[in-house]
Amino acid sequence: MSNTFGDLVKITSFGESHQPYIGVVIDDFPAGFPIDFDQVQKNLDLRKPGQNSTSTSRKESDQYQVISGIFEGKTDGSPIVAICPNQNTISKDYQPELIRPSHADLTAKTKYQNSNDYRGGGQFSGRLTANLVFAGSICFQYLQSIHSGLKISSQVISIGSETNPENFESIILDAKNSGDSVGGVIETRIQNFPIGYGSPLFNSVESIFSHLLFSIPAVKGIEFGDGFNLAQSLGSEVNDQLQYNSKKEVEYLSNHNGGILGGITTGQDIIFRVAIKPTPTISKPQKTINLATKQNLEHSFLGRHDPSIVLRARVVLETTSAIALINLSQ
Ligand SMILES: Cc1cc2nc3c(=O)[nH]c(=O)nc-3n(C[C@H](O)[C@H](O)[C@H](O)COP(=O)(O)O)c2cc1C
Repeated sequence: MSNTFGDLVKITSFGESHQPYIGVVIDDFPAGFPIDFDQVQKNLDLRKPGQNSTSTSRKESDQYQVISGIFEGKTDGSPIVAICPNQNTISKDYQPELIRPSHADLTAKTKYQNSNDYRGGGQFSGRLTANLVFAGSICFQYLQSIHSGLKISSQVISIGSETNPENFESIILDAKNSGDSVGGVIETRIQNFPIGYGSPLFNSVESIFSHLLFSIPAVKGIEFGDGFNLAQSLGSEVNDQLQYNSKKEVEYLSNHNGGILGGITTGQDIIFRVAIKPTPTISKPQKTINLATKQNLEHSFLGRHDPSIVLRARVVLETTSAIALINLSQ
C-alpha cells in the first residue's frame, strides 16, 4: 500500500493540503511507552511553514490531536492515531487547468482521471511531511530509550552550487526576490546505532532508507557514505580497513561505506546525503499548458511557496530516519 510503510512499526499517512485535516496512524508500536509530546511539537515547529524570510508565508501551527492509542500517559497497544488541522489555505491560488512544471499536477490528474484534489498540491503537498515528523519523532524517542546515546542530526551541505553556510541565506533570498527557487544537499548522520541491524538483498539498510526518503516530496537523489565518489576511487583508497584496538575491540579505520556493509549496520555512524530539488512552484514565468483551452502559454504561478525546501527538510530527514531505523530487522 502506498500510504502505509513498515514491517515492524507501520506508519499510515493521510490527508491533503486544503482538506480539513492531515493525519497519521502508527500501528504495532510498543505498548507502555510514555511519549514526550512537547518534544514532538519542537520537531514539528522546526518543519512548520512561515518561520522566517526564507520560508513560505503560509503559517500553520501544526498541532496534532491524538485521538487513540494513549492511556494514562503511555502508549496502550492500540494504533496511535493523530490528526492535525489545515488552518491557512488559499485555494483560489490553484487552477486545475494550469499545470505547474515539475509538480505532480499532470501525473495526478492523469492517474486519478481528474478526480484529484489539486488545491495546494492535494496529497502531493510538502505539508504531508508533518505526518512523517510526528510519527518519526515518536519512533526516535522509543529508539533512544533502547539505544543509549542514539543521535540523529542533519546539516545543509550546499544550497544551489554554494557550499559556504554563511552564504546560504542570501542565495535563498536572491532566488526568492527573483521569483525563483533553489535546491540543495543535506547530510544526515546517525550516531550510536548498534551493529547487526538490516538484512541482505531487499530489506538492506540502504533499501529501507531509500524507500522512505524518496517518499519525501522533492527528494531526487541519495548516496550513502562516499556514494558516487566511491565509483571514482581505488579500492586501496576507500576500503574501510580494520584493526583491534588496545582493548581487543574491532575498529574500522575509516567509514567510506556510511556505516552499512552487506545491507547491515556496522556500528559506525550511518551517513547519507540527499539531493533536494528547487521548489517547483515559482512566480517567474515558465512555459506550460492550459488543459482547458489546449493552448501553450507562459505563466507565473501564485501561491505561497518556499523559495527553498532545504532548510525545512532537515528535521523531516532526521525524523523519517527514525521510522527507517525502527523498521530494521535485528
Ligand atoms: C517540506 C516541503 C515543502 C514543500 N513545499 C513546496 C511548495 O511550497 N511549493 C511547491 O511547489 N512544492 C513544494 N514541495 C515539493 C513538492 O511537494 C514536490 O516537488 C511535488 O510533490 C512533486 O514531487 P517530486 O518533486 O518528489 O517529484 C515541498 C516539499 C517539502 C518536503
